[in-house]
Amino acid sequence: IKRITTHILQEMKQRGEKISMLTAYDYSMAGIVDAAGIDMILVGDSASNVMAGHETTLPITLDQMIYHAASVVRAVSRALVVVDIPFGSYQGNSSEALRSAIRIMKEAGAHSVKVEGGAEIKESVVRILSAGVPVMGHLGLTPQSIYKFGTYTVRAKEETEAEKLLEDAKILEECGCFALVLEKIPASLAKRVAEAVRIPVIGIGAGPDVDGQVLVLHDMLGITQEFQPRFLRQYADLRGVMLDAVGRYIQDVKSRDFPNKGESY
Ligand code: KIV
Ligand code: NA
Repeated sequence: IKRITTHILQEMKQRGEKISMLTAYDYSMAGIVDAAGIDMILVGDSASNVMAGHETTLPITLDQMIYHAASVVRAVSRALVVVDIPFGSYQGNSSEALRSAIRIMKEAGAHSVKVEGGAEIKESVVRILSAGVPVMGHLGLTPQSIYKFGTYTVRAKEETEAEKLLEDAKILEECGCFALVLEKIPASLAKRVAEAVRIPVIGIGAGPDVDGQVLVLHDMLGITQEFQPRFLRQYADLRGVMLDAVGRYIQDVKSRDFPNKGESY
C-alpha cells in the first residue's frame, strides 16, 4: 500500500479531493481505522478525555502521549500519523518544543506533530520544522486554552478574532506547516482561511468549505455519549452494541449457558 505523505495531502488539496481524518489512541482501533482507508490518523490529546477520563486535555503528559502514539504507529500501514504535543511541552520555550517533538518522532515513530496556536508559538513551530519534523497547526477553539476562553462555544465570531485567526493561518503557512486544523469557527471564516492558504485545512465544526474533516473516533462511533455538539455526526451506536453484548455475556455466565461442551476442553 502506498503511504500517505504530506506531499500527497498537498496534491489532494490542489485537485480538490477531500481529506479524511479521525483520531485513534490505541493499536486495535488504529488498525481498523487504517484498514478502512483513512488518510490521516490523529493521536489527539483528546486521549486525556476519551482514554483517561479527564475533564480537559491539559493533564495528559508527554510520556502518555508517546505511549498512545507508539501503539497507533504499530498498527498503521497507510495513514499519515499526526501526534498532539501536549499542553506544557512546547509553549513559550522553543528548545523544549523541539525536544518534545523529537521524543514523539523517535520514541513513537510518528510522522508529524500538531500544536495549538498562531503567532504566540511561532518560534517553537519554526524550531521543530528546522529539525525536519512536519508540523500541523491548530486554530479556533484550541482546547488547551479552555481556561482562557472559559467556554466551549464557537470562536472567532467577531471580526477582530476572525482577522487574527486568518493572520495566524498565514503565519503558520509561512513557517512551513504542512496543514492546519480549524476547530469550531463559523463556516464562512473557515472557507476564507482555506482559500487564503495553500496548505490543506482540516475542519472540525468548521463547515464544508475546507479541505478535509476530522472527528474524535469514539464520538462518531457512539462510544462516548455525553458529548453531543452540533458538528458531530454519529455513525454508529457502539455503546449500545457493547452494552447488549456485555449484558448477554453476563446472562449466559449467570445461567450457566456459557461455556458449553463445545467451548470446553
Ligand atoms: O485532540 C483532538 O482530538 C484534536 C481534534 C479534535 C482536532 O485535536
Ligand atoms: Na488535540
